[in-house]
Amino acid sequence: MSADRPKSKKGVKRSPKKKSTKAPSMRVNLGGLKLANPVMTASGTFGYGLEFAPYLDLARLGGVVVKGLSPKPRPGNPGPRIVETPCGMLNAIGLQNVGVDAFIEEKLPKLRKVRTRVIANIFGESIADYVTVTRKLNEAAGVHAIEINISCPNVKKGGMSFGVNPKEAAKVVRAVRKATTLPVITKLSPVVADIAGMARAVEDAGSDAISLINTIPGMVIDIEKRTPVIARGIGGLSGPAIRPIAVRMVNEVYNAVSVPVVGIGGIMEAGDAIQFMIAGASAVQVGTASFVDPAAAEKIVDGIAEYLARHNITAKKLTGSLVR
Ligand SMILES: Cc1cc2nc3c(=O)[nH]c(=O)nc-3n(C[C@H](O)[C@H](O)[C@H](O)COP(=O)(O)O)c2cc1C
Repeated sequence: MSADRPKSKKGVKRSPKKKSTKAPSMRVNLGGLKLANPVMTASGTFGYGLEFAPYLDLARLGGVVVKGLSPKPRPGNPGPRIVETPCGMLNAIGLQNVGVDAFIEEKLPKLRKVRTRVIANIFGESIADYVTVTRKLNEAAGVHAIEINISCPNVKKGGMSFGVNPKEAAKVVRAVRKATTLPVITKLSPVVADIAGMARAVEDAGSDAISLINTIPGMVIDIEKRTPVIARGIGGLSGPAIRPIAVRMVNEVYNAVSVPVVGIGGIMEAGDAIQFMIAGASAVQVGTASFVDPAAAEKIVDGIAEYLARHNITAKKLTGSLVR
């Protein structure tokens, strides 16, 4: 035995207790969805995950939220569909996707080989659409949770978004909840007067967690042509421009519900993610940042780990630690 090793009970002296060098836990539990760390990628900004494998280690992310899935493939809107704005971007992709069947057959088998959590984002034009997609994903091995995008037009109700009416939103959540045993996260639209009321409605309908915010509608005009720059006219604003709005809404929702909250909106670096967590988010999603730096999400994992170590606090304890 080496002489400088601390003496046991029978020995005379113990060395002074050393401060623990164990890194604070980054683990989070989103209503049954267990993540190794709080960082996910946001739907529609990270493809089906696999496209980003050359740029970062997908297994180091808490989870990957895939592009919104519908019952049938969708080509999306005609271009131009994206324009850069001050501190952000406007997009009107039109929910282009391969459809749920092709996702399960072609994308999921490859995603299953990556050791990360796969969250399937879904949308539909009717409640039946949401249920169809959910049932198929529920049967597919390798999906760990469903995220419901309620910011979609309800064709049967004249195209008004499910996400602007708490009763309609609750109907979608209840139907999806019944169609799956997977954890269900409901993604809220910021285009509501009362975000806390909307959050309570989807919580009461059975949502296991709530994510927010989706993009905010905006317009950019080409003054020479006097036409909107985006072919469809209106697009969704994302990026740092929307972050303070998103942080405020996350804080309001955190104070209104008891299910975990996921913060989204303009997270470009670890400090931004940490703001959301202090405001009440148990986890975050990185969206537009991946367009600027495809490795942004992994760098944010590292930055949060460094902050937690420096403050000797776990991710769980950081959530909602806002001091007023
Ligand atoms: C190009 C693009 C496509 C998107 N597609 C989807 C989608 O299919 N489903 C969805 O729920 N959100 C979609 N979003 C919204 C993002 O997931 C996210 O909520 C929003 O961009 C705010 O986060 P950010 O500022 O970090 O980008 C999309 C956003 C962008 C920029």
